Amino acid sequence: MKKYKVAVIGATGMVGQRLITLLENHPWFELTALAASPRSAGKTYEEALGGRWKMKTELSDKVKAMTVYNAEADVETVAGMVDFAFCAVDMKKDEIKALEEKYAKAECPIMSNNSANRHTDDVPMIIPELNPDHAKIIEAQRKRLGTKRGFIAVKSNCSLQSYVPALFPLDAEFGVKNVLVCTYQAISGAGKTFDTWPEMVDNVIPYIGGEEEKSEKEPLKIWGKIEGDKIVDATSPAFTAQCLRVPVSDGHTAAVFVNFEKKPTKEQIIDIWNKFSGVPQELNLPSAPKQFIHYFTEDNMPQSKLHRDLEGGMAVSTGRLREDTQYDYKFVCLSHNTLRGAAGGGVLMAELLCALGYLD
Ligand SMILES: NC(=O)c1ccc[n+]([C@@H]2O[C@H](COP(=O)([O-])OP(=O)(O)OC[C@H]3O[C@@H](n4cnc5c(N)ncnc54)[C@H](OP(=O)(O)O)[C@@H]3O)[C@@H](O)[C@H]2O)c1
Repeated sequence: MKKYKVAVIGATGMVGQRLITLLENHPWFELTALAASPRSAGKTYEEALGGRWKMKTELSDKVKAMTVYNAEADVETVAGMVDFAFCAVDMKKDEIKALEEKYAKAECPIMSNNSANRHTDDVPMIIPELNPDHAKIIEAQRKRLGTKRGFIAVKSNCSLQSYVPALFPLDAEFGVKNVLVCTYQAISGAGKTFDTWPEMVDNVIPYIGGEEEKSEKEPLKIWGKIEGDKIVDATSPAFTAQCLRVPVSDGHTAAVFVNFEKKPTKEQIIDIWNKFSGVPQELNLPSAPKQFIHYFTEDNMPQSKLHRDLEGGMAVSTGRLREDTQYDYKFVCLSHNTLRGAAGGGVLMAELLCALGYLD
């Protein structure tokens, strides 16, 4: 099988580093170009990192020696070297929008981890097990951009990667009415480690800028429908969220309270979670977990340290499902924020779009 040549834009960042570890030995993709800010441009990847490598795995000599391009100034060069690119950059929203569109218009499809285009109505926001059909909007987007191949596809925010997969299949059967969720989010979600953010040791910060809005609004796009040349957001379920930063290195936990149109039994919920799978499992995509949702019966599970890496960090864990005094049910769920929630989710989305023919 032909390998697709890929670039990582924002290669020196937390998500960029994760992407590199996932792409180095990928069966379908070949890491071919790296790009970052003008501060890194022209340096080897090792020089550009300057000791910022945060992953537990060693970096290969081949990647260390790769030249880092200037993400903004070298669009044509990078686009000419690859079949498509992953993008995870820390820039202003309007700058990211312009950058991603430049790559798309240079016929380089973009798999974005950024939030800038999540609410552009002809840009699909895909969780591959839930809404793979949203990829169909790409044709309308290509028309708007005037491109043959180029387009932008985004993945959703890391905060919702555990509770939206848990609720989505329940909604199909029982109608989810409203959801209250509190998230307990790891420091890698801010691109940080305990070394670079010592204030987070022994601390909880009750505010993550923009996160509550994303946690409430983005699910409605996932639940949305294609109408003509746009994806129209769903109007329900209704979400309310509080998002806290907690002293955990990786893994976002969520405490969820939910009301249904038609209240299921506890056994029905667990059965749906155990049986739930989607197109990635059917197509046996390389990064797809075999079992998407793992339900734990033990009262003290799932735990971030024990379960975030389940199935390569691509599975979602749930537990503590029980009836509530004000809502129908409450439960806890967990997903790895830089794997399923960011880089891994981006890679799985790219595998899906490859398999569906959008990256040919
Ligand atoms: N961390 C997570 O769990 C997570 C999850 C989901 C989504 N995201 C999103 O992913 C994106 C990156 O997050 P991160 O945590 O990886 O950030 P990060 O660690 O701060 O890395 C930022 C990256 O952006 C690059 N950059 C900064 N200014 C640039 C410019 N003017 N032109 C080109 N590149 C520039 C940096 O390059 P230099 O090294 O050259 O400065 C670096 O490679 C953000 O949009 C974030 O919201 C993160």
